[in-house]
Amino acid sequence: MNHLLSIDDLTAADIREILRITPSFAEVAERRISKVPALRGQTVALLFYEDSTRTRLSFEVAAKRLSADTLNVSVSTSSVNKGESLRDTAETIEAMGIDAVVVRHRSSGVPMQLTKWVDAAVINAGDGWHQHPTQALLDCFTLEQQLGDLTGRNIVIVGDIRHSRVARSDVGAFTRLGAEVTLVAPPTLLPAAPDTWPVRIETNLDRALQRADAVCLLRMQRERQHEALVPDLREYATLYGLTAQRAAALGPDVPILHPGPMNRGVEIAADVPDLDQVLVVDQVRNGVAVRMAVLFLLLGSGAAGMPAPALVDDVETEDAR
Ligand code: CP
Repeated sequence: MNHLLSIDDLTAADIREILRITPSFAEVAERRISKVPALRGQTVALLFYEDSTRTRLSFEVAAKRLSADTLNVSVSTSSVNKGESLRDTAETIEAMGIDAVVVRHRSSGVPMQLTKWVDAAVINAGDGWHQHPTQALLDCFTLEQQLGDLTGRNIVIVGDIRHSRVARSDVGAFTRLGAEVTLVAPPTLLPAAPDTWPVRIETNLDRALQRADAVCLLRMQRERQHEALVPDLREYATLYGLTAQRAAALGPDVPILHPGPMNRGVEIAADVPDLDQVLVVDQVRNGVAVRMAVLFLLLGSGAAGMPAPALVDDVETEDAR
């Protein structure tokens, strides 16, 4: 693996390998010094043209836990505001000596384009409606922690599927791992050609929830909508939001995921995130470990096929040598 641009770059075996090594990176967070020397001397640039809290911070924490240096490009205060192109920006950053660039952009395909301009490994942290592969990996990891093997499990994805890179990535990852996926949305928020997706489509949320083993909620992405696709948000919340009554009907053992940021009162009722079965915080925690695994496989000795745990000495041990 030279880059991670899409979940479609990964086979089921690749995904399983990332999920297999992730616990050894999660364990690093539990150490007194939560740092290992696996990527010492390497530099990871974070180039976010779109807002982010979770993905940006968790890649930064992940890189630092692996002892990489990070170069945090603040697009809003950079020469991008003076009209500098993406290519010139990327080449400028690369000239400073980077090993990987984590990129988020509103346009689909930007990470792929970057691979033609830089030698560094490119990791897609979200491009338009297209892909968010590390979100899918952390969602798989979080679901497997609760459910074990996902084979044959019915995972219901609810919300603004049409504009969602998370939905596109999750569907690819979940189905590769043998899960069945049901998409639930009003017709206006379904993808343009749902028949080409390997999923079941449902427009009635209550019917879909009756046979759900897990539920993934999606944010209503109003910043990507250029017309009124639902009559009003209150009606949407009534028909497609996860209310307390719907959560109770699911039962406490059905995990509920949301990639964040949540619109409380829209896709999820204000008090539902407090339920134990809502795994938003676990997703964030797991995101750091999954991204450590991805960085390690791209940049570390993992890139040469070495197993992860053998390389995860802590910094204290390394410094004592
Ligand atoms: N899940 C996710 O991508 O969140 P951020 O937009 O905060 O990075």
